[in-house]
Amino acid sequence: MDDGTLGAALEREHHEIDAGIEAFSTGQAQGAAAIESLTGAMQALRRHIYLEEQILFPAMREELAIPMGVMLREHGEIWKTLDVLEGQLRHNGAGAAVRDMSRELLSQLERHNAKEEPIFYTQADSSLTPSASVELQAFLETGQMPDGWVCHAASMTGT
Ligand SMILES: [Fe+2]
Ligand SMILES: [Fe+2]
Repeated sequence: MDDGTLGAALEREHHEIDAGIEAFSTGQAQGAAAIESLTGAMQALRRHIYLEEQILFPAMREELAIPMGVMLREHGEIWKTLDVLEGQLRHNGAGAAVRDMSRELLSQLERHNAKEEPIFYTQADSSLTPSASVELQAFLETGQMPDGWVCHAASMTGT
């Protein structure tokens, strides 16, 4: 779906992030390009979680409080995987352990996105106030996650 809506733009981010991780995990990209593809997708994923937790979810909190709790918990699990991957890359480079962890990240994302897209993204355009829509649209185009930001669940556990 790509019809110029916020829902479509958010879904496109999921696909771009998946593609960046897959290029690494499948061996489709090699050497430095593979690592760049993975680390670029990891950064994009942290920024994506930021925009969901800071802009999208607060605007949908009233109607979707229960599924939002699930999304926040899963963001925490994904965030932990990203931290592990970063540590592995820093200390040991892109070996078999990173490949296994990148596959684990893909399966976490598959389970997460399979709920997030039908529950949140399909309603984003009708639920957001005009000002929240403008804010989200602007962030999607040029926004940056502030340095040092961590997702809600990670901030609660101190990881
Ligand atoms: Fe998402
Ligand atoms: Fe999410």
